[in-house]
Amino acid sequence: MRWLITLVVFLGLPIPGTAWAQGPVFPTTGEGLYDVGCAKCHGEDGKGVDLSLVAFDEPLPDFSDCSFAAREPDADWITVSHEGGPSRGFSHTMPAFGGAFSVEQLQLIMDHLRRFCADERWPRGELNLPRALITEKAFPEDEAVYTLSVNSSGDSAVINKITYEKRFGPSSMWEVIVPFGARELSSENGWGDVGIGDIALAVKHTVHHSVESGSIVAVGGEMILPTGSTNDGLGAGTTRFEPFVAYGQLLSDNLFLQAFGGVELSADRDKSAHEVIARAVFGGSWTQGDFGRTWSPMMELLNTTTLGDDSETNWSLVPQVQVSLNTRQHILLNVGMNVPLNDTHRRSTQVLMYVLWDWFDGGLFDGW
Ligand code: HEC
Repeated sequence: MRWLITLVVFLGLPIPGTAWAQGPVFPTTGEGLYDVGCAKCHGEDGKGVDLSLVAFDEPLPDFSDCSFAAREPDADWITVSHEGGPSRGFSHTMPAFGGAFSVEQLQLIMDHLRRFCADERWPRGELNLPRALITEKAFPEDEAVYTLSVNSSGDSAVINKITYEKRFGPSSMWEVIVPFGARELSSENGWGDVGIGDIALAVKHTVHHSVESGSIVAVGGEMILPTGSTNDGLGAGTTRFEPFVAYGQLLSDNLFLQAFGGVELSADRDKSAHEVIARAVFGGSWTQGDFGRTWSPMMELLNTTTLGDDSETNWSLVPQVQVSLNTRQHILLNVGMNVPLNDTHRRSTQVLMYVLWDWFDGGLFDGW
């Protein structure tokens, strides 16, 4: 009997009632699997077929558009393909292929999808490591972040921060940071006025990235303007410029490391000393169930050393957990604590949290 099937398959004849009926041999390459499962909607070129050829009107993604495709990690696309559109807050029109293709076959399809964007200047989404509460990361982002920090020891303070980040070109980004809030000046003088702090403008450019080695390096510069009131404890009273290097490294078992080094140069050293800044983040990311919410516990180690006559070195630890809030995973929450390791009677402990909106992936109310 087997020889007959072999002959039939060899001749390309359909065997009724079997999966082989659709074609002579089920494909084993990513391209073949894509052509069978995906091309009738997504097109052989990955740009999406003309909507007049299909029975739905959801716009199809363009996998050849690097600005969209490069930033999406394989794992997210495998989830959408395995579980269907709604698993990441997309439409039902994107079918679930979990019953038809194994994760290994979907990975072959992803390797094929990646060929549609051939421009290697765009860093891949796999290198977009979770954002720590304080340490700037190396990956360029399109995001808006609201951060709140409240002192839980020492003088009281409530400081909010709005950060807006926008990518330009394949691997660059600019950002604006606007802090606002109020501080207790001392127990005798009470609180200062509520106001804006020192606004910062920054640019960042990725100089190296490789999915093979799991590493990404960016250089950047930040200019901090003296917009905050010094009387209310909200500003340093002088402009500062901070060139920096940021590095991210994927490790095995979902773990990662991030590092940051910078120098903060002050225009007026009487008001604010030059500072050397070194930060490191160690953490990991795990999904709840096979394709669910992502949890990323992290630990930051912060070090600053002021330069000059009364040079001083401060250390802090920032334990924290980041979690995705919605199905699309583009709204994230991080909660943690900044704990000083030295001079603890003088330096306050802070409770910190942020809500991050990766606005490129959808509106605030999309994908819940
Ligand atoms: C019946 C048509 C159809 C088929 C077949 C199909 N898709 Fe889709 N796919 C869609 C539509 C429509 C969307 C957009 C959904 C939305 O934006 O809400 C989509 C979205 C996606 C996305 C999400 C992209 C993003 O925005 O992040 C991925 C990944 C994807 N498809 C992969 C695949 C793969 C892989 C296959 C084959 C195994 C496949 N699709 C087969 C219709 C289809």
